[in-house]
Parts: sequence; C-alpha cells; structure tokens
Amino acid sequence: MISDNAKKQIDSWIAKYPQGKQSSAVMEALKVVQAENNNQLNHDLIQAVADYLDMPGIAAAEVATFYENYNHKPVGKHIIRFCHNISCMLTGADDLISHLETKLGVKTGEVTKDGLISVKKVECLGACVGAPMFQIGDQYYENLTTDKVDEIVDGLK
Ligand code: FES
Repeated sequence: MISDNAKKQIDSWIAKYPQGKQSSAVMEALKVVQAENNNQLNHDLIQAVADYLDMPGIAAAEVATFYENYNHKPVGKHIIRFCHNISCMLTGADDLISHLETKLGVKTGEVTKDGLISVKKVECLGACVGAPMFQIGDQYYENLTTDKVDEIVDGLK
C-alpha cells in the first residue's frame, strides 16, 4: 500500500529522530503518502502509515484529521487555503472568499468542475502581518484584494 518510493522518503524522515521514536515522523509520512494518492488520504492509507511507523492507527488518524494539511475527500490540482482567522477576517477575508466562490462557481470544500481548483477555509497560517492572505502549495499570497485574487487564480493551470 505504501510504495517503495514513499518508504524511502519516510525513512529519511525517520532518520531525523532518535531510534525508537519513528512515530515522530507521522506528519511527514502522511504527507508523502497523500501526495502519492491523488492528494487524498483514507482509512487504509492512514493505517498503513501507522503500521509502517509501528504506532496505533488511532494516533495516526488523530493527526490526519486534526490538521488542515490532510485531505479526506477529492481536491483540485491546486488547493487554495484561505485564512479566515481574526486578522484576515478583520481585513476582508470573508468578502474575498465570497468573491472567489462566485468566480469559481464552487463553495469552500468543493472542487471546480475541471478538477483544477479547490478552496478550503483554514485557521491562522502565521502570516497575519500580510492579512488577508491565502496559501497555494508552498506559496503564500498576502495583502490580497479582489484584483489580486483574480490575477492569481487566472494564472493557475
Ligand atoms: S489570521 Fe490570517 S494569517 Fe493569521
């Protein structure tokens, strides 16, 4: 269930922790396995990660369901993680999210018909000074306006 390539990547994370503490690599292991499975996790994959790390399945499931990084239903090629926490909310995130939903024809949590984009509302991403902001992949986009949102989204392929 976990590919040799994924095991190799997970092993490199395990090596960063003291012997016997391989479960500390659970977040990265889940990320690696998710990336190889259409950016999505399910019960069997989470259990496979737990087994590989020799930890209880429930402990891996707790991590996989607590953090926004993990997807449990289909997502788009690009996931827009829109912060709607206090600083972003006070600087217009809700209006921008509504604008984005209208532009894409989806609600948060849904995927565009072409499978290109999905939108998630997330809690503070630690970039409050650049509020309102969202994240796509590893990139943060800050001080968003409707024009900036349009420009960024129109550039996604
Ligand atoms: S509240 Fe949005 S990044 Fe902190």
